[in-house]
Amino acid sequence: MMIRSLLSVISVFLLFSLQINCVTFPLPGESPEQQLLKPNEWSYCDYFWNDKKDPQGTTSVAGFEVLLQKQLKGKQMQKEMAEFIHERIKIEEEYAKNLSKLSLNPLAAQEEGTLGEAWTQLKKSLHDEAEVHLKFSSKLHTEVEKPLLTFRCDNFKKDLKKYDHHIADLRKQLASRYTSVEKARKALADRQKDLEVKTQQLEIKLSNKTEEDIKKARRKSTQAGDDLMRCVDLYNQTQCKWFEEMVTTSMELEKLEVERIEWIQQHLRQYTTLRHETDMFNQSMVEPVDQLLQNVDPAKDRELWVRENNTGDVRPVDMDI
Ligand SMILES: *[C@@H]1O[C@H](CO)[C@@H](O)[C@H](O)[C@H]1NC(C)=O
Ligand SMILES: *[C@@H]1O[C@H](CO)[C@@H](O)[C@H](O)[C@H]1NC(C)=O
Ligand SMILES: *[C@@H]1O[C@H](CO)[C@@H](O)[C@H](O)[C@H]1NC(C)=O
Ligand SMILES: *[C@@H]1O[C@H](CO)[C@@H](O)[C@H](O)[C@H]1NC(C)=O
Ligand SMILES: *[C@@H]1O[C@H](CO)[C@@H](O)[C@H](O)[C@H]1NC(C)=O
Repeated sequence: MMIRSLLSVISVFLLFSLQINCVTFPLPGESPEQQLLKPNEWSYCDYFWNDKKDPQGTTSVAGFEVLLQKQLKGKQMQKEMAEFIHERIKIEEEYAKNLSKLSLNPLAAQEEGTLGEAWTQLKKSLHDEAEVHLKFSSKLHTEVEKPLLTFRCDNFKKDLKKYDHHIADLRKQLASRYTSVEKARKALADRQKDLEVKTQQLEIKLSNKTEEDIKKARRKSTQAGDDLMRCVDLYNQTQCKWFEEMVTTSMELEKLEVERIEWIQQHLRQYTTLRHETDMFNQSMVEPVDQLLQNVDPAKDRELWVRENNTGDVRPVDMDI
């Protein structure tokens, strides 16, 4: 009786579940529908329970590894963005240097009058513009590049490794519990068969095995059943622990990813703000040039020039004889 009920527990364990890489899943359609832990959120904690097979189907990667790879990729993207901003800064610095150098160029320094004033202002505006670009580049450095570069730079990869080892250890434990279950199940089946054979032999008097032998076989069979129960129990406990750690850890990773995206978003916004300010600045920089260009007056310039450089206003007259 005892053995029969044990066997039914085992068959429940086997019939209504599906083992994939030592993890027990419900058979499709057999168990009541599972609800998502966080419906409508596409949460990490709901979608990475199975292992991922590579295209050839030869090796598989734990669902949790897929989440870790996403984190590493995010870290790499963040680093590459910082690198990109660094290149952007270099262009800005070089541009500023070129502008500043050009503003000192003596070309057309001799221009005179109102046109000369406008020209001087235009050259001066290059210097101011260079300043704006320098300021932009230095703000890009402190307010965009550096934050992108230093975000989670110290222990991030170490922390990921810790998560990785923690979950992988639990999976290893689960695999070893699973092996124990398999062994115990086989042992029970062997004991069952042994008992059956002995019982039959007694019935048809093929052997003069005594009742005592049969009692012994029955005891051993019961013991094997108990063993199996214990193994399944341990397996269930380990799987439960793995499940819980998977949920908390994957939600931790989910939180990290949300933070990463928001951090980058915030600093790219800072980039556009600074870039916008640069435009406004150089607008104001060319205004004085515009003003002086409006004041350019060819007549006035001629007057000025003639006053300074005239060579005499007494005109020639006809020769008298
Ligand atoms: C700065 O000037 C150099 C030549 O003097 C040129 O090769 C370079 O492309 C310029 N850079 C920028 C950003 O204008
Ligand atoms: C039954 O047991 C006796 C000894 O108790 C032995 O002599 C005999 O050979 C056995 N018979 C069979 C069929 O095993
Ligand atoms: C293992 O888990 C299954 C499913 O939750 C349960 O039916 C069974 O009683 C458990 N087995 C043991 C030995 O705890
Ligand atoms: C402002 O500077 C940019 C270069 O950074 C230039 O392309 C743009 O024409 C300037 N705007 C004005 C109004 O001078
Ligand atoms: C015109 O007069 C100014 C001031 O005296 C002088 O500096 C300049 O060289 C003169 N230009 C010419 C072409 O002589």
